[in-house]
Parts: sequence; structure tokens; C-alpha cells
Amino acid sequence: ANERESMYLVSEYAANYFKNILWNSELGKAIGLSYFKERGFTDETINKFGLGYCLDQWDGFTTAALDNGYRLEYLEKTGLTIVKEDPNNPNNPKKFDRFKSRVMFPIHSLSGRVLGFGGRILTKDKKAAKYLNSPESEIYHKSKVLYGIYYAKQAIAKEDNCYLVEGYTDVIQFYQRGIHNVVSSSGTALTPEQIRLVNRLTKNITVLFDGDAAGLRASLRGIDLILEQGMNVRICTFPEGEDPDSFAKNNELEEVEQYLKDNSKDFIRFKASLLVKEASNDPIKRADTVRDIVNSISKIPDRIKKEIYVQECAQIMNISENVLFGTLAQIGKKDQ
Ligand code: CTP
Ligand code: MN
Ligand code: MN
Ligand code: MN
Ligand code: MN
Repeated sequence: ANERESMYLVSEYAANYFKNILWNSELGKAIGLSYFKERGFTDETINKFGLGYCLDQWDGFTTAALDNGYRLEYLEKTGLTIVKEDPNNPNNPKKFDRFKSRVMFPIHSLSGRVLGFGGRILTKDKKAAKYLNSPESEIYHKSKVLYGIYYAKQAIAKEDNCYLVEGYTDVIQFYQRGIHNVVSSSGTALTPEQIRLVNRLTKNITVLFDGDAAGLRASLRGIDLILEQGMNVRICTFPEGEDPDSFAKNNELEEVEQYLKDNSKDFIRFKASLLVKEASNDPIKRADTVRDIVNSISKIPDRIKKEIYVQECAQIMNISENVLFGTLAQIGKKDQ
């Protein structure tokens, strides 16, 4: 417990350090702050989300932290510092700032403690990952965290709905636009723990997909996990080339709200329509499609809802209800 507390403390120090660099150093202002402003974030927003900048230096942050009494052990355990043995100098390993030259997004727990960071590179360097995240640690379990949950929790309960977006900037731009009930799984596949975090606040999730289609088909599987927890799922996609960030940046609140209202579709309906379109007239594909959609329906705990969805999907997929009920029964047997 003491070790974890030390890790929390060094993470909090780091968040403040990166924030201070962003607002108060010449390079931080010229590079980091102007980057966020170009993305349309206001001072208030940048401040609210605790955004920061890690300078283009090998160990500027690490040196400052050590000078301030934070121990290398915890800098390494939180992943803030990368430590490499130096064969020429066994008592003095080399130390590198993990997030060198990146703008920083601190990731908070439900109660607001800093658990880790996402860092975005600003150059178009093809070799470097666009986002780098803190490694798994005693305090940061990426499968149990949702970015933005600390800021969103009250609004999720009040609105009785949660928007789930793909990335950090989607959360921030939505929040700034006035939609506060928004969180992100930050590029990782959704987990039952993450869904449980939301499930405690609302039974309704609306999943917002970037308009790049790349991830859509793969992500649909993960959504069954939300159904399994008895939650109601809606899906909303964005126009080609847009994501919630760009859309909220370029449209007024009423327009964003109207778009969400007009384009959020019930997940099962959405999936059934999508699959039907893809399978077209190929009988083998259509058979797979039927099993796939029935598999999703089988995850819904409520029997009445199950029945209603079978009826709907029979219509959408132009197949008899009996066949769907039969498939559902088969899946039920397999699961026992
Ligand atoms: N992501 C990641 N590592 C990458 C790319 C993406 O961890 N190399 C995660 C980030 O959390 C990112 C999310 O996946 O926010 C969604 O990815 P993407 O849509 O590509 O990024 P955006 O959030 O749109 O980022 P930006 O607008 O800054 O390009
Ligand atoms: Mn743990
Ligand atoms: Mn994307
Ligand atoms: Mn995106
Ligand atoms: Mn984006």
C-alpha cells in the first residue's frame, strides 16, 4: 500500500510538472500550448483536464523529480522514467523520460487521482506511435480505467446516458462543447471492468465511432459485453474522415445534439442492418450473419427484450422468427 501511495504521489508530481512546463516555459508555450490551442481547446479546458507538455530533452523531467526527492524506483515503476543499465557505469544507470517531446493527457481514477498518462507526439514521424501510454503498473490497469470518468461521472448519472468515444481528444472536445457525459477506452478493446464503471451510473451507453470504418466491424464484438451486463446500447457513427472531436469542434452544441439524436441507432438493429448489407445474397454469409446476430441477442439477460429483438431482426434480415428462436435455443444449450 505504501508503494502504491508513492506511485500516486510521483504521478501527481509529474502531472503538475508537465502542466507547469506547458503554461510557464517558453518551449512549452510555443510548442505544447499552441498545439492545444490550434486544436481549439480553451485555456479553461486545457486547465480542467490538466494537460501538459514533456520537453524534448532526454531526462529533464526525471532529473527534476529526483532533485525534488522522488525515488527512481517509483519513477521506473510508474513508467515515467525508463532506466537502462550502463555497462561502463554500473552504479549509475541511464535514465530517459518516457514521454519526451509529447503533449500530455493525465488519466484520472473515478476519484480524481492521477493513475497514468497518454502522450501524443506532435511531429509526423512515421516510426513513433502517435500516442504513447503509461505501462501497466500497480496503480495503472488500463483495462479498469476510462479516460474522463472523473469529469463525467455526475453528468452520466444526471443525463442517465454515457457517450463512449475512441480517444482523449474526443472526450475533451465534447466536454468543452457542453456534453459532459463522455468517456473513452482510449484505443483499447472495451473490458467488462470498464463497462461496470459506467453500469453503476447508468444503464444506457451510446457508442460513438470515428468515421473511418476501420475499427467498426472489429469493435462490434466488444459491444456484446455491454449487452451482457443488461445495459441498453446505441451506436452512432460520424461522417467519413470525422471523429467526435472534429465534429464537436466544427459544430455548435445544438447541431451536435441534433446529430446525435438523429444518428444514434439501437445496437442490435444497427448490427442486423449492417450485416444484412454486407452479406447481400451470399447464402453462406447470410447464415453466418444470422448466427452472429443471434449470438448478440443471446447475451441480453432480459427475456422479454430478447424476444422483441428476435422479432425485429427477423424482419430486418428477412428470415423467419422460428429459425432465429431455434438458433437462440441452440446457443443457449451450448453456453450451459
Ligand atoms: N491510440 C493509442 N495509440 C495509438 C493510436 C491511438 O493509444 N498509436 C488510442 C488513443 O487513446 C487515441 C485513440 O486510440 O485517442 C483513438 O485513436 P485515433 O482515432 O487514431 O486518435 P484520435 O484520438 O483521433 O487522436 P488525434 O485526433 O490526436 O489524431
Ligand atoms: Mn492492483
Ligand atoms: Mn480512429
Ligand atoms: Mn479519432
Ligand atoms: Mn481525432
